[in-house]
Amino acid sequence: MEAIPPVPPRILIVDDDDSVRDVISVLLREEGYNCVVASGAEMALDLAGQEETPLVISDMKMPGKDGLWLLEQLRERYPDTSVIMLTGYGDTESAVDCLRRGAVDYLLKPPKLTDLIRAIERALAKRRIELARKRYQKKLERKVRDRTTELRNALRDIAHTYQSTLLALVSALDAREHETSDHSLRVVRYTSAIAERMGIKGPELDEIGRGALLHDIGKIGVPDAVLLKPGKLTPEEWLEMRKHPDIGFQMIQNIPFLATPAQIVLSHQERWDGQGYPRNLRGQEIHIGARIFAVADTLDAMTCDRPYRKGTTFANAIAEISRCAGTQFDREVVRAFLDIGEQALIKHKEDMHSRKLTLVQSEMQAHEAEATLARLSEDLDDLDQTIPGPTGPGSRATTPPAPGSPGGAPGANGPGVVLSVLAGGRQGNPRD
Ligand SMILES: [Fe+2]
Repeated sequence: MEAIPPVPPRILIVDDDDSVRDVISVLLREEGYNCVVASGAEMALDLAGQEETPLVISDMKMPGKDGLWLLEQLRERYPDTSVIMLTGYGDTESAVDCLRRGAVDYLLKPPKLTDLIRAIERALAKRRIELARKRYQKKLERKVRDRTTELRNALRDIAHTYQSTLLALVSALDAREHETSDHSLRVVRYTSAIAERMGIKGPELDEIGRGALLHDIGKIGVPDAVLLKPGKLTPEEWLEMRKHPDIGFQMIQNIPFLATPAQIVLSHQERWDGQGYPRNLRGQEIHIGARIFAVADTLDAMTCDRPYRKGTTFANAIAEISRCAGTQFDREVVRAFLDIGEQALIKHKEDMHSRKLTLVQSEMQAHEAEATLARLSEDLDDLDQTIPGPTGPGSRATTPPAPGSPGGAPGANGPGVVLSVLAGGRQGNPRD
């Protein structure tokens, strides 16, 4: 197959002098260039806009808009078009000005054909290199953008995995002490609501939420005999119990993304008046996240039922927290807390509860579907046994009872787990 010869680049020749314009265009056409001509700057700009024009050769001095005007317009509208200027003898100052404004070259009028062709080839080669460089840069930018997106997604996945791991850990801890995993999640919700009311946002808000979530992680190191003791603790047992902020801090302080939450864990039992533990910090020495948490934790502790007492109303809890502003709690935190209002706080609690109910409902639906499937399977078995065939009655393997059906064991993730968690089947601990 015969190769198609490349299309010669379009060259626009601009000169108000017919003879110069014609001579140059005729000579260049003979050399194989694709030439178009314009008698003025504005006409040239129109022609450059109609079709891709890699090169413009323009006279400097023309009536009306001159060559410099054309040069500036071309640089602005068609930056990939190269411009060679033709200047009069003794006008080197304008020639230098042209180069400064972006012309690739200049030639004295009338140009010699060899000089003209050399300048054209130089300009076109330079343009080709420049275009290739731009293409390469664009490709590189696209690659960097793609990789950045991939990296961002990977980081988001990692953050999500971290968060899920922390939630699983806290659920296990809550199940040990509080029977449900709601306590920590509710405290996170109240803490975040107060922090937001105080104008805290972005990564600082996330870190405070994480600190609230992990506040009691150190209780993993408190023996069951102390943590779950139904009666009063002895002074020795209190000493054991009071170690949990330190234990929690030791556990997570070296994990870089938990550095700030670790401070909250360490300080979550401190009080504004210095009567807390483990370091008897006072006032602003206590991390702001821990000061906010203290209010959120008290609200949850007071408004939730315990096996040994009924939870009080939100109104009572709010009044009590308000009374303790300036002693147990930071006044500013209490002010933000009161700004949220009783109804909004109740709604936070209800939201968390309805989330749990949705989970239980879907678990129950899944359970019903499994039972129906098991019944259908049994019916099929019965049907099989009534139809004589090569396999014969009883040859089919007996379908084991489905999870949850009579005689079947509840699945590990079945509704039994969630329901028993909600029912609170174990005795609780009087110390939250
Ligand atoms: Fe605690």
